Amino acid sequence: MSKFSLKIAAAGAICAALTIITLLYISRDIMQGVYNLPVVLLVLFVGIMMFYLWIDNNQTVFIRDLNEMVKAIAQGDFSQSVIINKDDELNNLNESLKLMASKLNSRLLKTEHEKDQMETILTSMVEGVLAFDITGRLLLMNKTAEDMIGITFVEAEKRFFLEILRNHQLADLLKKCLSDGSRQVIEANLSPTDQEYYRVYITPIIGKDEVSQGVIVVLRNVTEVRILEQVRSDFVANVSHELRTPLTSVKGYVETLLDGAIDDRPTAKKFLTIINTETDRLNRLISDLLYLSKLETGRIELAKKWISSQDMLDHIIKLLEPVALEKNITIESTVNTGAGSVFGNPGMLEQVLINLLENAIKYSYDGGIVNIEISICEQGRSIKVIDKGIGIPAESLARVFERFYRVDKGRSRKAGGTGLGLSIVKHIVERHRGQVQIESEEEKGTIVTIILPIN
Ligand SMILES: Nc1ncnc2c1ncn2[C@@H]1O[C@H](COP(=O)(O)OP(=O)(O)O)[C@@H](O)[C@H]1O
Ligand SMILES: [Mg+2]
Repeated sequence: MSKFSLKIAAAGAICAALTIITLLYISRDIMQGVYNLPVVLLVLFVGIMMFYLWIDNNQTVFIRDLNEMVKAIAQGDFSQSVIINKDDELNNLNESLKLMASKLNSRLLKTEHEKDQMETILTSMVEGVLAFDITGRLLLMNKTAEDMIGITFVEAEKRFFLEILRNHQLADLLKKCLSDGSRQVIEANLSPTDQEYYRVYITPIIGKDEVSQGVIVVLRNVTEVRILEQVRSDFVANVSHELRTPLTSVKGYVETLLDGAIDDRPTAKKFLTIINTETDRLNRLISDLLYLSKLETGRIELAKKWISSQDMLDHIIKLLEPVALEKNITIESTVNTGAGSVFGNPGMLEQVLINLLENAIKYSYDGGIVNIEISICEQGRSIKVIDKGIGIPAESLARVFERFYRVDKGRSRKAGGTGLGLSIVKHIVERHRGQVQIESEEEKGTIVTIILPIN
């Protein structure tokens, strides 16, 4: 009970006491047979008036307290209550208000919890989300959208779409969605200077009454997907080109043979030799492509084991000796102390060494020397393939591991290259968790180093 109500209650009690004393005094006069009727009536009237005034004051105070309690509730303080000991209508009202306050409190807590949950979900989304009202002004924006657009919600709130994103095409789609409720999906940059690519979903916000209340814009960054698609389509174009070149050549020679060259034996033999070389190259190209695809999809099991370094080198050198002999090239091998064995997948390491030695022979001058050297190193083993050949220009060095990249397409093709050898090497070494490095100087030679871990 408030101080004010206590004071009024005390005043009321004093009035009542005075009235009782007066009544007792009058009743003594009556007992003695001396009474003055107008005085008695006046005293009774004043008493009754005071009594009503007291009750009225009590109610006024109570209503005032209730009013303060309702004000406190309106300001979010649900702990206030009015104490009343009487069992009447006002007390019922007090109880109902207390119940309402408690229900409001729990509903408010639930709403705040749901709001927090919603904010957490929106913040952790990888997609940018923006909501616009029916007039096209920004209502909501998550953190991802802030980062994608480079503007904060505080700066963008209540602004129109074009004030936030300078893309007229997107703004037109948003307007369309606002006017006819149609969903829109488009891939676009967010602004003319934006390097990133986004898939943008524009969807109407439909209320319970089925009426559109605004628009949700969801932004998904698809730059990486686009780059991958580009790589894939470049790859398909490259493969088609690489396959068509030998096929065109084969078809040309076959037609010439059919046109009569077949009757000229030396020419026929020359043409058939070329056809044979081209079909070999086609075959190699297809094998390399299949091997690369198997490597990329992880379909080749990486069963590693210890392999004797010398045995491995002897086997590879024997395989490539005929090719080296054609150019009068000597292959020398060295296994340094402590590097008697290497740890890896035998088939895959063989592929690596064949590709590197083939390159070293192919791009060496006639009569040159190619070295292959295995040593121990900090990470495990290093395998170096060294040649004193034509070398690689500095600007091409970083690109030689790309599929189909060749410094000199004509030269590589003539030497039977597919442009896939070093990509295969890189893939295999990376699957072994190793590294591949290349150093080269034009007309001085090239060193390719493979680092293989031993675990
Ligand atoms: N040892 C090397 N010396 C000079 N150039 C090399 C050497 N190894 C690779 N290259 C260059 O890198 C390109 C890519 O090599 P690779 O992927 O093995 O394809 P290719 O089938 O043409 O040999 C080659 O075309 C060549 O231009
Ligand atoms: Mg090669």
